Amino acid sequence: MKLTIIILAAGMGTRMRSAVAKVLHTLAGKPLIRHVLDAIAPLGPEKTVLVLGHQADRVRSVVEAYDVEVVYQAEQRGTGHAVRQAVDVIASTPGPVMVLCADTPLLTPDTLRSLADAHFRSGAAVTVMTAMPDDPAGYGRIVRGRAGVLRIVEEKDATAAQKKIGEVNTGIYCFEKKFLLSVLGGLKNKNAQGEYYLPDTIALARKGKRKVAAVICPDPDEAMGINSRFDLSQAEMILQSRNNVRWMMEGVTLIDPATVFISDEAAIGKDTVLYPNVRLEGKTTLGEGCTVYPGSRVVDSACGNGVTIKDCCVIENSRIADKASVGPFAHLRPGTVLGPNARIGNFVEVKKSVIGEGSKANHLAYIGDATVGKDVNIGAGVITCNYDGFQKHQTIIDDGVFVGSDSQLVAPVRIGKDALVAAGSTVTRDVPAEALAISRVPLDVREGVSGRRKRMKQKKDPKTK
Ligand code: UD1
Ligand code: CA
Repeated sequence: MKLTIIILAAGMGTRMRSAVAKVLHTLAGKPLIRHVLDAIAPLGPEKTVLVLGHQADRVRSVVEAYDVEVVYQAEQRGTGHAVRQAVDVIASTPGPVMVLCADTPLLTPDTLRSLADAHFRSGAAVTVMTAMPDDPAGYGRIVRGRAGVLRIVEEKDATAAQKKIGEVNTGIYCFEKKFLLSVLGGLKNKNAQGEYYLPDTIALARKGKRKVAAVICPDPDEAMGINSRFDLSQAEMILQSRNNVRWMMEGVTLIDPATVFISDEAAIGKDTVLYPNVRLEGKTTLGEGCTVYPGSRVVDSACGNGVTIKDCCVIENSRIADKASVGPFAHLRPGTVLGPNARIGNFVEVKKSVIGEGSKANHLAYIGDATVGKDVNIGAGVITCNYDGFQKHQTIIDDGVFVGSDSQLVAPVRIGKDALVAAGSTVTRDVPAEALAISRVPLDVREGVSGRRKRMKQKKDPKTK
């Protein structure tokens, strides 16, 4: 049977103390709400309804890729009130209704499926997922009687005795649709927070002599709700270690997993080695047999096989072909494309440039808005002067060119195939293929000058030799 799913995401998340709505905060680089949407996707819901309120436009923009229907809760008057906003759009959908909160990002599809299965089996009016965390503080407590779950008491309404209950509400439920629609109108807001609580539907089911079922989530970490920055940091640790284990099982070596960050959207080939303090952010992919040395950050970039990224590099929106090497201390800015076996060395910055197969810029260079052919050698300290204060201009360096150290290529300029730029030249016009470009102040060597200076110094202060 197909499910209808409602995700509650209208709250601001006051306890985050943030200008950004809670569900937009990220875990493994992905907004909380998308974690929940990804967890429900394998269940193949008939319809998914998002209840939005605070910063609804921003939240919508991060879920554009998902097939969801949005309803708005203008005023946040509680989780029960939030579900009420979805009543019209679920009227025509089939099956049971699963309700989740967008602030429980660690849920797995298997756990959600087990809740749905339990609900199908029990035929209850409502099945609630509970958990037994180490510390139940902050959660609603599950009050059980001999016949099972009687009601849920929010922390703020709980007596001292009820606060001692270790079983908590995860905020995830399956409802028989008819029951849910019939009961929402009966919720009251006479409680410590003056809100319409969705968990009160449990007591109302009992009152109506309807069946209530409960499933205990085997891993309390999964059901963790994010309410504060501290919760967020704990969840990040749990998620990172979960993902790390997965990558290690896939054949990736992590030398010090606790210090490595791997985005949820990253992909890594086998026999790749990640040293400590490596960050793979966004949609970064690394092929097989790559090595990333300590302290490098790779963002939204695609690397082929056998790529080496030495220590302390920043690589953003770039593409790196097989067996290329970057760093140490290199910066590849957006739009960099490195060909196979290309080498970008220490203190080199590359921006919006293509570096051809086997070409090298090993030391202290800036390459911006350039197209560099194959087997080009760019010496130490070479600069493409791409900006005239108004506009960016292109530099083209054809195959086999040798650019001597400390040269400036003033764009727009083209250096033809196999040409040679002598060290220290400032190139201000095109250089044809196979030519030599040299611009130098003539060298003046004056004999004996140094020796004379030394003698003068000794006369002034006889102690110096
Ligand atoms: C809620 C449950 C609590 C449970 C816990 C699990 C209630 C009253 N309490 O508490 O029993 O243990 O989750 O994590 O349901 N939201 C709206 N509109 C509102 C209020 C909330 O959309 O008017 C959304 C929030 O954006 C959030 C979710 O509902 O994603 C949960 O709200 P939150 O305030 O975090 O509830 P908790 O106090 O954590
Ligand atoms: Ca919460």
